[in-house]
Amino acid sequence: MKIVHTVNDLRAELAALRAQGKSVGLVPTMGALHAGHASLVERCVAENNVTVVSVFVNPTQFNDKNDLAKYPRTLEADCRLLEAYGATFAFAPSVEEIYPEPDTRQFSFAPLDTVMEGIYRPGHFNGVCQIVSKLFDMVKPDRAYFGEKDFQQLAIIREMVRQMHFPLEIVGCPIVREADGLALSSRNARLSTEERQEALKISQTLFASQAFAASHTVAETQKMVEEAIATVPGLRLEYFEIVDGYTLQPIADWKDTTYAVGCITVYCGEVRLIDNIKYKC
Ligand code: PAF
Repeated sequence: MKIVHTVNDLRAELAALRAQGKSVGLVPTMGALHAGHASLVERCVAENNVTVVSVFVNPTQFNDKNDLAKYPRTLEADCRLLEAYGATFAFAPSVEEIYPEPDTRQFSFAPLDTVMEGIYRPGHFNGVCQIVSKLFDMVKPDRAYFGEKDFQQLAIIREMVRQMHFPLEIVGCPIVREADGLALSSRNARLSTEERQEALKISQTLFASQAFAASHTVAETQKMVEEAIATVPGLRLEYFEIVDGYTLQPIADWKDTTYAVGCITVYCGEVRLIDNIKYKC
């Protein structure tokens, strides 16, 4: 595996491979890689001749400077994992390389980006679209891989690709969980042992709500999840929304959609964790 730091080098490497007729897959990441990322890389390697994994902590998507400062940066370990999973290139540019001047582009994918994370993390999806659109331009992948844990992000990126006519396929990959159910996240590394135990209640509640939903209304399921999270002193619910998986708008009745998803964000101590569960799909 080659580690590439500049856009010019990356473009030169990829042009040579494309000239040989090779297909290119992209896995965008912010590093601190775990088994969830590994599952994206594995799928990308299986479906493309060339796999590019970008490792870039994108400053424009952080609305909280503290969160950006604390974001784990583990490039050496990340490259070991990528090599083991068969990636062709790790693309690890500097901030100056990606943003030689400030990116002033404004993206709007309303109503997808005006709910949930769009409310609690103003500007976040604008930053995500800035970096992801740049990566699509730089890599020109045939396919790009994203995890379903960031459910809203995946919906917004699909919409960006549709509206901007990027000639590529977006592949959504299932959430990877620890054996006990906790959704894998780079942020889990910041949980203390006690917090890790408390965080488990998030996935446990979502799984319990799946069974509960079969015989209860949307409002009752909503209440059940809110009350279960409130029983754990170390957890603070930011939001739990049961939405249409395509429009991301809240539903009032299970009959309102063929694709119902529950999206949750919970603070466990200072660590912000997200997760989701499908009720109907
Ligand atoms: O999901 C992430 O890790 C990031 O939002 C992404 C897509 C790599 C853009 O920085």
